[in-house]
Amino acid sequence: MTKATARAYPNIALVKYWGKRDSTLMLPLTGSMSMTLDDFPTTTTVERTPEAAADHFELNGEVIEGEPLRRVTKFLDLVREQAGIREFAAVRSKNEVPTAAGLASSASGFAALALAASKAYDLSLDPADVSRLARRGSGSATRSVIPHFAVWRAGDDETSVAEAIDAPDMRMIVVVVNAGNKEISSREAMKRTALTSPFNDAWVSSTEQALESMMSACADNDFTRIGRITETNALRMHATIQACDPPILYLAPTSLAIFNKVRELRESGLEAYATADAGPNVCVIARPEDADAVAAALVEFGSVRTMAPGPGAELLADSE
Ligand code: PMV
Repeated sequence: MTKATARAYPNIALVKYWGKRDSTLMLPLTGSMSMTLDDFPTTTTVERTPEAAADHFELNGEVIEGEPLRRVTKFLDLVREQAGIREFAAVRSKNEVPTAAGLASSASGFAALALAASKAYDLSLDPADVSRLARRGSGSATRSVIPHFAVWRAGDDETSVAEAIDAPDMRMIVVVVNAGNKEISSREAMKRTALTSPFNDAWVSSTEQALESMMSACADNDFTRIGRITETNALRMHATIQACDPPILYLAPTSLAIFNKVRELRESGLEAYATADAGPNVCVIARPEDADAVAAALVEFGSVRTMAPGPGAELLADSE
């Protein structure tokens, strides 16, 4: 094959990845667990271009240069090295995450790129291998290769891959909060956390425990425990990040208002739990039958979108 197209979806962690043990191999400090979403995919075509003198990268029809192109080339270099093929490639990506949605596109982006590039360069990889490769592009991409729910073990270069885990069916209600302030990248903020947050060691040990509890809550099909672990782990991550010097505040007043509202919903008998990544948007999990009522209670805070567990990275038909 010299050309392949793959599609992958974003994921939201219920136990967060925050911090690297090795930033070249992209090994995380702890394991993490996530739900892959069923909307906002990235679709990427990789086509080998034997005549070209460099890689070419287009995102939503626009030619991209600078740092994003450098990241794509660095990633393709790994694929070329594994394949023993030196040819450059044209990468055309379509991101369906509306720019304002604030959902990380690096997870879906590198998961789709890993699968498309591995096929275009004739590597025959199983899903664990694709997950391992995607990890080198962006940590959270490791998990987007896997459908529905994924657990990514810290491990070493060989074993640090994501695999599927059974969890009770649930919905994720994404509340997009328009905070207007420019975020510090997760890469930058992870570095600052490791260097300056006095809570970093406690974050690592409590997250290791949270992941073990999450695995047993999933095995028990226990949505309540899953929700409690999710919300506590997210707030611990933000507490750790806020304790950096200089501090980093990802949560906006509206984000906190949503966490409070979700607690009120629980007190009134509607079970839901909140989480948030490196930004002001809040994602709320609920049982499928409660999702509409939870979404309706959150529309006052921003635009709301309800998502179900979604597919893993998949190859599309036009590959040749
Ligand atoms: O791999 P990155 O740079 O997208 O980092 C992801 C960090 C969080 O989204 C905050 C947590 C996670 O586990 O996805």
